[in-house]
Amino acid sequence: MRVAVTGAGGRLGRAVLAALAEAPFTGIAGPLAWRRPDYDLDDPDSGARLIARDRPELIVHAAAWTDVDGCARDPELAGRRNGDAVGRLAEAAAGAGVDLILVSTNEVFDGRRTDGRGYRPDDPPSPINAYGESKLAGEVAALAAFASADSQATLAIVRTSWLYGPPGNDFPEKIARAAERALAAGEALRVVGDETGSPTYTNDVADGIVEMIGSGELLAGVHHLVNGGTATRASWARAVLAGLGIAPRIEEVPGATWTRASTPPAWAVLEPTSMPSGEPLRPWTAALADYLPVLRRQLVGPGVAGGARR
Ligand SMILES: NC(=O)c1ccc[n+]([C@@H]2O[C@H](COP(=O)([O-])OP(=O)(O)OC[C@H]3O[C@@H](n4cnc5c(N)ncnc54)[C@H](OP(=O)(O)O)[C@@H]3O)[C@@H](O)[C@H]2O)c1
Repeated sequence: MRVAVTGAGGRLGRAVLAALAEAPFTGIAGPLAWRRPDYDLDDPDSGARLIARDRPELIVHAAAWTDVDGCARDPELAGRRNGDAVGRLAEAAAGAGVDLILVSTNEVFDGRRTDGRGYRPDDPPSPINAYGESKLAGEVAALAAFASADSQATLAIVRTSWLYGPPGNDFPEKIARAAERALAAGEALRVVGDETGSPTYTNDVADGIVEMIGSGELLAGVHHLVNGGTATRASWARAVLAGLGIAPRIEEVPGATWTRASTPPAWAVLEPTSMPSGEPLRPWTAALADYLPVLRRQLVGPGVAGGARR
């Protein structure tokens, strides 16, 4: 099966590529990595060109402009990259009979939910920032493209949240570095205590996507692929630091302590949907335990962890 991955150099894209490379159904040729300059969100025809060139049967669209503060500063550009470009890719895919897995985000929801439940796929989206608006525009454009095409191709939207994984520069790595700076300065580490989410390991989302493809049941519609359980930024930080043996004094502060262009949703929790096996993804604490040795290597220095998947 010919599977192409956009954003192949990104945090999730590289994990999806690695998981696909291990999957028997991609054959010895392996998956196709679509990245800049060939695939460019700023060149809306690039998807159609690559479909004509490579003739994939399925595309995993992991590329996006993920700089949420950048999106807040330039919402029009966010709309073009995360909305219009997705629509163009979806039109080209649907027209050519190519299945599409579109990766989206919890930020399509406003995060104001207070009943302690995660957002379900059929809850009404209502983004509160430009990034969320642009990602929702992408979902809507892709749904429209697949609804209007005559082809038998399938669109699956996979929403996830609070992703971490190689090559790092993610929340666990940033918090570990900040903790070491706080310890060296003899200061408390200030961590946001009023944002709650579903920390999710990229490898687990990648394995979930590969399971969806490999089962032959690429279900049309919206799926929530997140690790189980919830954490505040502060409790996530505590788990990371305990696992690394770094013990600063932690002070929980509101997110509003720092001025940002973008406002993150306070409740970033998605209710996980079941995989074809019937199981949701594992709890976030178990996934984090797997990541800690990789994170340790990343913290030691560049090049040590490389793009290691496990
Ligand atoms: N990170 C999270 O916490 C999170 C949470 C929920 C959902 N998501 C979604 O998950 C997906 C993957 O995110 P990620 O965390 O892997 O993000 P990432 O590490 O920032 O990767 C984004 C990828 O998109 C590519 N890209 C950016 N601008 C592009 C452009 N103009 N043209 C072509 N490619 C471009 C990047 O290419 P370069 O490598 O060339 O820069 C990179 O490969 C996205 O759809 C994101 O919205 C992320």
